[in-house]
Amino acid sequence: MPESFRLLVKRATQVVAVCGGGERFLSGVAAQQLVVIENGGVVVGRDGLVKAVGPTDVVESQFRGATFDKIIDASGMVVIPGLVDSHTHPVWAGDRVHEFAMKLAGATYMEVHQAGGGIHFTVEHTRRASPEQLLGSLTQRLTRMLRAGTTLAECKSGYGLELDTELKMLMVIEKARAMLPIGISSTYCGAHAVPKGSTEAEAAQDIVRVQLPRVREKMTLGELRVDNIDVFCEKGVFDLDSTRAILQAGKAMGLQINFHGDELHPMNSATLGAELGALAISHLEEVTDEGIAAMAKSKTAAVLLPTTAYILRLPQPRARDMLDAGVIVALGSDFNPNAYCCSMPMVMHLACVNMRMSMNEALAAATINAAYALGRSHSHGSLEVNKQGDLVILNASRWEHLIYQFGGHQELIKYVVIKGEVV
Ligand code: NIG
Ligand code: FE
Repeated sequence: MPESFRLLVKRATQVVAVCGGGERFLSGVAAQQLVVIENGGVVVGRDGLVKAVGPTDVVESQFRGATFDKIIDASGMVVIPGLVDSHTHPVWAGDRVHEFAMKLAGATYMEVHQAGGGIHFTVEHTRRASPEQLLGSLTQRLTRMLRAGTTLAECKSGYGLELDTELKMLMVIEKARAMLPIGISSTYCGAHAVPKGSTEAEAAQDIVRVQLPRVREKMTLGELRVDNIDVFCEKGVFDLDSTRAILQAGKAMGLQINFHGDELHPMNSATLGAELGALAISHLEEVTDEGIAAMAKSKTAAVLLPTTAYILRLPQPRARDMLDAGVIVALGSDFNPNAYCCSMPMVMHLACVNMRMSMNEALAAATINAAYALGRSHSHGSLEVNKQGDLVILNASRWEHLIYQFGGHQELIKYVVIKGEVV
């Protein structure tokens, strides 16, 4: 009996494996060097894992006599790993298009927030929404991400700020995980803002004493899978001490630390993250030199979010300083009602133009390093044997078209493949 496999992709002009040799991230000079195979092929097995990556003739001779459920002749096309979006807030009701106009007219993010809009506006709408409504909009948004090449996305709660709505959001994420092919890393973000009518201390106490124990109970019962814990560590939101207490409580129940820090003010979040062994810190527009050094040493990934700096006209995150210091730089869309962008190709474009990353660095940041920021780089983020068979096939002569052609990925992305299945 010939052995059978799920997928053979052959004759691709380029297969961009991103990473070879099993590295879990690319930093420093390594982030500049991608593994590119000309006239390449990929085989994915029935278990959804990559069985071979290499020149087409080598792959074909290795699998001579085998059968494949699907064969894609990728002549004139390019294969890259599935993109990973390491920071999104995709579960919410009530858009904020009216606030976009206010911000264009000069209102700052915090002015809108302190006037009761921003996250508070979304919280009111999300609390009132039914799980079915939230699931409907979440699946649409995740499908949009998938069409733009994202095969693994982080999804946060954080528009409830009280137990019932936070659980409702996490359960909706859980349902989407079962319904859609896209991979999901789920994040409890109950400390996204201090709810109206509470003090910061009361909110932190509610999270540590009420919300997290209930989340843990649901995880133990197998009703929920939560991967990460997040806090918005910011002046006027959660200070360093409450952030530490909440993150430590999450870590004690096995969650990976991945939080918002140093966005609008320098908060020493990077140093705190290093101290707590955080997997990742997002934003970092206001990070200090000490923070950069601490993150480089502790191997805490910096999740940079070019859409936020762009929309809010913030200083650009110091991607070059971080890369030069050896920080593991990842990218995320930050999809949320403030930054309405589901497209990682657009994010990579902004990272290159506004943050001065090279295209190679941007692709590493949107694949292997984004997977690292989610604790998934052993299984995701590059095309290597035994990793998950997630890939994107582009109708282009070189992979860089994905970044160069901004805003037009619908024509460019020919196939999105997850675990060897075209989705
Ligand atoms: O990452 N900064 C905090 N959280 C989100 C924005 C959420 C919102 O405005 O709804 C962010 O940009
Ligand atoms: Fe965010």
